[in-house]
This record gives sequence, C-alpha cells and structure tokens, in this order.
Amino acid sequence: MPTKGEKDAVTGRETTGHEWDGIRELNTPLPRWWLYVFYATIAFSAVYVVLYPAIPWFTGHTRGVLHYTNREALVGDLATAEAGQSALRERIAKADLATIRKDPDLFAFAIAGGKAAFGENCVPCHRAGGAGARGYPNLAAGRWLWGGSLAAIYQTINHGVRNDDAESRQSQMPRFGLDGVLKPEQISDVADYVLSLSGTKAPAEAIERGKKIFAENCAVCHGEKATGNPEVGAPNLAAGVWLYGGDKATVVDVITRARSGSMPSWGRRLDPVTVKMLAVYVHSLGGGE
Ligand code: HEC
Ligand code: HEC
Repeated sequence: MPTKGEKDAVTGRETTGHEWDGIRELNTPLPRWWLYVFYATIAFSAVYVVLYPAIPWFTGHTRGVLHYTNREALVGDLATAEAGQSALRERIAKADLATIRKDPDLFAFAIAGGKAAFGENCVPCHRAGGAGARGYPNLAAGRWLWGGSLAAIYQTINHGVRNDDAESRQSQMPRFGLDGVLKPEQISDVADYVLSLSGTKAPAEAIERGKKIFAENCAVCHGEKATGNPEVGAPNLAAGVWLYGGDKATVVDVITRARSGSMPSWGRRLDPVTVKMLAVYVHSLGGGE
C-alpha cells in the first residue's frame, strides 16, 4: 500500500495514497471554515465545562465555578411566585367580595385567576368571554337571569342552578301545553303577545287575547311588563334577546314543554378562593349591577 499521495489520472486530483485492490481515495480535506468552527465548539465546551454543571458525577454532577443551573433558577422563581400568590390567595380567602373589588391588587389577582378558572371550567357551556349559546346565558351582556350584583353572581356560581345542592337556584316554569293548562290556540296567542313585545307582527286580536292569558298565567313569574324576575330566574321576554330562541315555533315549544336549564354547583367542585375570583371576573364581564 503506497503511502505517498499521487495524482489521480481521471480527475487530476491528489489522492490520499491509500489503495484497496486498485481503488484509490481522492484527497478531499475539510473546508477551512468548517475546521475553525469545529475548533471553536471544542473551545466553547471546555469553557462551559469549567463554568457550568456539565459532567455527571457520583453524587450528582459537577457544579461549575458559577454554581448556576437553569433548573434551580426555575425552582427558585416558582417558589417566589407561589409565595406571592399564597399571600394574595389568603387575603382573598378572608376578604368579602366588595373589598376584593375595591383593592387594586386583590382585584387584579382575582380577575387573572378568575379568567384562568373560567377558561378551564366555564367556556364549554358559556363560550369564550362568556358570550353564551342557545340555552347557556351570555354573561357579558349586562342582562342577568338570577341577578347581576356581585353577591347574586357569587351565589349562582357557588351553588349552581337547578341541581341537587340544597342552596342551588330553583324554579320551574309550568308545562302549559303538556299538562293541559293552556290549549294550543291559547299558547299560540300568548306567544304572539310575547313576541309582539319586541316588535314581531301578529293579528291584533291574537295579541289582545294573548295579553290576557299572559296576565293570568305568566306575569306572576315574568312580571306585569314581562321584563323578568331574578327571584325565580325568569327571563325578560320584552328585550328581543332570547335564551332559547325568538322564533314563534321555539317560543310555542317553550310554553308547551317548558325548559329547565341547569348548572353545576361550583362550590362543590372548586376551592372557595377560586369561586370568589370567578364571581369577581364574571361580574366584571357583564358590567355587573
Ligand atoms: C354544563 C354547562 C355549564 C357550565 C360548565 C357552566 N355553566 Fe353557568 N350556566 C349554565 C346554564 C344552563 C345556566 C342557566 C341556567 C338557567 O337557565 O337559569 C347558567 C347560568 C350561569 C350564571 C347565571 C347567569 C344569569 O344570567 O344570571 C352564571 C353567573 C354562571 N352560569 C356562571 C358560570 C361559571 C362562572 C361557570 C364556570 C365555573 C359556569 N357558569 C359553568 C350552564 C353551565
Ligand atoms: C313559575 C314561574 C314561571 C311561569 C308561571 C312562567 N314562566 Fe316562562 N320561564 C320561567 C323560567 C324560570 C324560565 C327560564 C327557564 C330556563 O332558564 O331554563 C322561563 C322561560 C320562558 C321563555 C324562554 C325565554 C327565552 O329567553 O328563551 C319563554 C318564552 C317563557 N318563559 C314564556 C312564558 C309564558 C308565555 C308564560 C305563561 C304562559 C310563562 N313563561 C310562565 C318561569 C316561568
């Protein structure tokens, strides 16, 4: 095996001088720039090993002269953040809702925490930002089924609506059609009346008959002027905004079979501080009352 480089007859390039059964290797050295970068990485790692933890050792790893690790820095940051949070959480646990709302630090913390908890627990039904969907009330419109004061919102969230929590919001609209309280023609008339309150046209006689039926059967919950009643969670029927839909077929169906929207009791599922933060957050969405 010759050890001296020679010229390759075909390409005219130097060979390394190695030859295996007549096959010779061309001499193609690494590009200079590549070599320098390579040396630089070696120098870098040597410096790194001296400064930072790098080599696994029997008791863990070498510490490096700087004694710095990202992991320890993160653990430290987390501990500081947690200490800050637990101080605020403790203050929220002790404060009443009005105090939380007035204190800028507690308020900002409650809004942030409430928003995060809302994203995890409430968005599936109430949608992003509390915008609502059919059967799931809009929490950002300043209209409230069960009242929009901080205390009322807190109560609704803490115990829920129509569930088996003893303090849950309860009420039930009668099934006027299914239980034979009203005849189909009467239901049609009262639906015409209800819809006329938000400007839907119908024959004047039907509306007149419906108005009487409403006064006798519905005003007790929905109010004389159909503007709703938070005591029983009866929606405002005169605003042109509907929980279940404002077409005649839907309104007739609601009167015939009623509805009973239900929400879980969050006081049973979430810790008390989170429930308070949620109340403050939801109150801020709808402008509250
Ligand atoms: C499983 C679906 C569901 C989830 C999840 C849910 N809700 Fe509700 N929520 C409802 C329904 C349905 C109603 C309306 C009940 C009714 O018809 O009176 C409601 C009503 C409310 C009301 C009363 C609105 C008003 O107009 O008075 C508030 C406040 C509220 N929810 C807050 C929350 C918060 C905060 C969460 C998250 C912790 C949440 N909800 C999660 C279904 C849900
Ligand atoms: C016992 C109280 C009560 C009485 C009486 C009552 N309602 Fe209701 N009504 C409710 C409640 C509570 C709801 C909301 C149900 C829910 O949130 O699931 C409701 C919902 C409705 C809705 C749906 C509103 C929407 O936004 O989609 C309509 C329409 C309605 N009622 C019409 C009537 C009419 C018409 C009568 C009389 C024939 C009547 N109600 C009598 C309590 C009552």
